[in-house]
Amino acid sequence: MTARLQTCAISKHYDNVIALSPTDLDVRDGEFLTLLGPSGSGKTTLLQILAGLVEPSGGTLLINGKDATHAPAGERGIGMVFQSYALFPHLSVWENIAYPLRMRKMDKPAMAAAVRDALEMVQMGSYANRLPRELSGGQQQRIALARCFVYKPSVILLDEPLGALDKKLREHMQSEIRSLHKDLGATFIYVTHDQEEALNLSDRICLMNQSKIEQIGTPEDLYDRPATAFSAQFIGYSNLLSGRIGETSGGAQLGNGRFAVPLPAQRPAGAVDAAEISLVVRPEEARLASVDDAYLKGIVTDVVFAGSDCRVLVDIGESRPFLLRCGRRETPSVGAGVGVRWNPEHAAIVTC
Ligand SMILES: Nc1ncnc2c1ncn2[C@@H]1O[C@H](COP(=O)(O)OP(=O)(O)OP(=O)(O)O)[C@@H](O)[C@H]1O
Ligand SMILES: [Mg+2]
Repeated sequence: MTARLQTCAISKHYDNVIALSPTDLDVRDGEFLTLLGPSGSGKTTLLQILAGLVEPSGGTLLINGKDATHAPAGERGIGMVFQSYALFPHLSVWENIAYPLRMRKMDKPAMAAAVRDALEMVQMGSYANRLPRELSGGQQQRIALARCFVYKPSVILLDEPLGALDKKLREHMQSEIRSLHKDLGATFIYVTHDQEEALNLSDRICLMNQSKIEQIGTPEDLYDRPATAFSAQFIGYSNLLSGRIGETSGGAQLGNGRFAVPLPAQRPAGAVDAAEISLVVRPEEARLASVDDAYLKGIVTDVVFAGSDCRVLVDIGESRPFLLRCGRRETPSVGAGVGVRWNPEHAAIVTC
């Protein structure tokens, strides 16, 4: 069964609170799309509208091309794992997972096998007879995941499903979720505010900010070509240098005119001569250079050992120091005057 979800100007407000501004989104069949964004940016609201748990204030939702804006939640073929796990408190773990299969009147042997597989998947095989209150928060969350996957819905919505898990289990469940996505061929919409998780899991990331979509694209798009300063700062660490594109040189004057910096050939719309811009330089793209040869000059204020390499902070006279990474054998001393440069094609321009 295919599952494509499209929203057209879908929105939600509560009295005068805008939870979701009019939003257009096209989720492809079989895609793993992640909604990423800070707390309060509208991720859960959008997910609940797709699931049919919240009535939108305006706009339309199409599922497989059919208007489903007001369709009852139970008729949408959508499975959901919530931010809070919402298990049935009076049912055992086994019965919780079997519940969606009973609703679908699956025969007993097939049900037993499906529940066993789902329990194994979340490494909870020996907990089948426990009640939810006899489990830790992380264990309850794993049962909620198993209960959603067990009936193989064609769309699966996951709202911060790994929030209560420790790092090791979280990584294990991430790879389980990735392989389940492959095996089921279902459309996954996954909410997180953890950018690393979003980069690891997604076909595309929909970055949300203040009830709107800030940028949507592949993880590489968002990392390499952030469209806004918010995108650049939310995903990975960015050095942001503000200034103005030169009228003749083709480069830019940044840092109140103190740095003359070449620009990448690929420019977003709006990055015209004399436009105000910020240049995004990722720490791993920058390197130390001799002062004569550098785009920026500054004083090393800190060197932090980070295992395979070191993080070097350089005061360049801006409000934030410039961060770069450098090999352990090349680290400068604190207080040294250094130059910094990078391959201009590996920086990105964002327009203000
Ligand atoms: N039932 C409600 N009544 C009033 N305001 C609400 C309601 N539900 C959500 N909001 C508001 O809508 C905005 C978006 O909320 P939402 O839960 O979608 O954010 P979120 O991105 O999921 O955040 P988090 O990462 O904290 O879960 C917030 O400002 C929130 O306070
Ligand atoms: Mg939420």
